[in-house]
Amino acid sequence: MVVDNKGRVTFVRVLKEDLSIIRVSPLDGQPIPDFKAGQFVTLGSYIENEKKIIRRAYSIASSPHQKKYFELLIRWVRKPLPGRLTTDLFNKVEGDDVIWVKPVGMFTINEKMHDGTPDNRRLVLMGGGTGLAPFVSYSLHLKEIQSHREIVVLHGASYVDELSYKEILTDLEEESLDKGRDKWNFRYRASISRPQEWFNRSWGGQKGRVESFLKLDSDKELSVLEEVVGEKITPENTSFYVCGWQGTVDGALHYLVPKGFVTERNKRKDGSFDIKFESYG
Ligand SMILES: Cc1cc2nc3c(=O)[nH]c(=O)nc-3n(C[C@H](O)[C@H](O)[C@H](O)COP(=O)(O)OP(=O)(O)OC[C@H]3O[C@@H](n4cnc5c(N)ncnc54)[C@H](O)[C@@H]3O)c2cc1C
Ligand SMILES: NC(=O)c1ccc[n+]([C@@H]2O[C@H](COP(=O)([O-])OP(=O)(O)OC[C@H]3O[C@@H](n4cnc5c(N)ncnc54)[C@H](OP(=O)(O)O)[C@@H]3O)[C@@H](O)[C@H]2O)c1
Repeated sequence: MVVDNKGRVTFVRVLKEDLSIIRVSPLDGQPIPDFKAGQFVTLGSYIENEKKIIRRAYSIASSPHQKKYFELLIRWVRKPLPGRLTTDLFNKVEGDDVIWVKPVGMFTINEKMHDGTPDNRRLVLMGGGTGLAPFVSYSLHLKEIQSHREIVVLHGASYVDELSYKEILTDLEEESLDKGRDKWNFRYRASISRPQEWFNRSWGGQKGRVESFLKLDSDKELSVLEEVVGEKITPENTSFYVCGWQGTVDGALHYLVPKGFVTERNKRKDGSFDIKFESYG
């Protein structure tokens, strides 16, 4: 049974007309319940036109070690019709009430291999648009527990102002350079999928959708991701996590499956797998 909790919007950062970061805190001042990086919280609001509460899932971007609020990265859905909950959420101001349901979800970091040994493989975290949100939580959590795993965050967005956590992720990479990769091994790369548009004229990085990091051009031996990490990517050395549109997941699988990577949903007989994904739409 769904148990609704009362919450308050405590922070709104409008990145652009249809993209915001919001924080939701419990109204009773209690700490937020424990959750795992990668899980989602359900938000709800009474929608007058529908005469009912509409609830929707949002991946938590904040760290599970931070107990004051859930931070969420939300797109206002406009087409073909204005989304019922997001239209309401984008009209909320700091101090407004919102319903939340305790976090759940299976899109969490795999810590152990199928045989119970630690999964020490490189983590490649691929987010399309708001699909970055769970990986911000992963990164903050891994930092907090002083993980020594190699982490590569890849973010794909249409426009440069949609690189929503660029500062935090760049800082995490800087820290890696300052401290040494033996202590904290983190990389962040972004890709812009509409580089020809005037608004993106300042972009000099990777061009194309996020899965383009995996593409092997015929005149090259390594994909861009492989150039970044300095070796061939194999199921033995790397695990993938993909979040965003189903097309983003399909795009990643298109490159990875022929290389022998296997999804959690289609795991090998011994229970092993190399790719986890979460998508919708
Ligand atoms: C696990 C999970 C995590 C998620 N995390 C995030 C996240 O971090 N950030 C994020 O922004 N989103 C996230 N989502 C998506 C989110 O849950 C909502 O689906 C999304 O915000 C749209 O909700 P809405 O009520 O505004 O739209 P809805 O009203 O549900 O509309 C959905 C779509 O249907 C269309 N539509 C609505 N009514 C009609 C109609 N009568 N006829 C034709 N078309 C119609 C709308 O135009 C829209 O395209 C996540 C989803 C899942 C499953
Ligand atoms: N945990 C979850 O399950 C979770 C969490 C957060 C978000 N989501 C979902 O992820 C999706 C991302 O939404 P968004 O508004 O943030 O994305 P967006 O900004 O519209 O797009 C992000 C990137 O994905 C590309 N893209 C768009 N449609 C695509 C498709 N069909 N196939 C492959 N790539 C595509 C875009 O390329 P172009 O510039 O070429 O369009 C852009 O580079 C939504 O469905 C959202 O609900 C899921």
